[in-house]
Amino acid sequence: MRIVVTRRVPEAAMVVLREAGEVWVSGEDRPLSPDELRDAVRGADAVVSMLHDRIDGAVADAAGPQLKVVANVAVGYDNIDVPALTSRGVAVTNTPGVLTDATADLAFGLLLAVTRRIGEGERLLRARQPWSFHLGFMLGSGLQGKTLGIVGLGQIGQAMAHRARAFGMRIVYSGRSRARPEVESALHAEHLPFPELLTTADVVSLHCPLTPETRHLIDAEALGAMKHSAFLINTTRGPVVDEAALADALLRREIAGAGLDVFEKEPEVEPRLLEMDNVVVTPHLGSATVETRTEMALLAARNVEAVLAGEGAINEVRPAGAGS
Ligand code: GLV
Ligand code: GLV
Repeated sequence: MRIVVTRRVPEAAMVVLREAGEVWVSGEDRPLSPDELRDAVRGADAVVSMLHDRIDGAVADAAGPQLKVVANVAVGYDNIDVPALTSRGVAVTNTPGVLTDATADLAFGLLLAVTRRIGEGERLLRARQPWSFHLGFMLGSGLQGKTLGIVGLGQIGQAMAHRARAFGMRIVYSGRSRARPEVESALHAEHLPFPELLTTADVVSLHCPLTPETRHLIDAEALGAMKHSAFLINTTRGPVVDEAALADALLRREIAGAGLDVFEKEPEVEPRLLEMDNVVVTPHLGSATVETRTEMALLAARNVEAVLAGEGAINEVRPAGAGS
């Protein structure tokens, strides 16, 4: 069995993959180009892919009819044309669960950083600017009693809500479907239609998958509906936000700030955002802990192992489905 890994993965996952077949790993320290990807997958029974790899029917055809599984090392799988693969009999898997806490931690970190001006304060000191403590110095916004609006109350959205509850925030949410009653009551979470969430929330945090329906969900109109004092947090996928419209809204002070871990055209970032003190940016670090990345790669490897052994995949995604 030939297993193609598009970018280096932790050794613990390699051990599992080597047991399952002949492993080829890209030696590049960058994403493979579309041409390189098509060349690399030729003859593969399994592909371990990263979120920057666009895996569609053409890539599956380049691999050949023996291709059995594409294991994406991510919970999101908007980079994969799932119907094109399943129609060719290829299983697609993702890595839910293992990155829930790490991603919610980062989302809450961005929330604290932007509301308490942590990045801005750090830049001030590093620029060796003069300063002294006074009662009006670099005031941020407190969280207690404020409302967090969660868009997409899946696993990560719920983990974010738990953190916010511990900080004394009220939780409202919107999403494709209503959460189970026990989830709502555990979080004291109130379901609101999306337009109402926008006008109610002091912080809007995005935890929905990227789908045709959520692309540019946060556009000029949505930003215009938010409170002038509100903050936007995005740790899901960049294209859920119209980044140019976000820069416009921030410049016009339509919202107070943003904490962003993901961008529309990674690794590019809308340049105007990088000039703004009320924007905190991190380079797609949601799941970036040693423990979580190891778990993610291991889970992807175990999915490959299971499918190649003729057992069902552990985390198969369905064509019409969506991540959490
Ligand atoms: C990371 O962004 C993931 O989807 O796992
Ligand atoms: C602030 O540093 C305080 O002591 O209240």
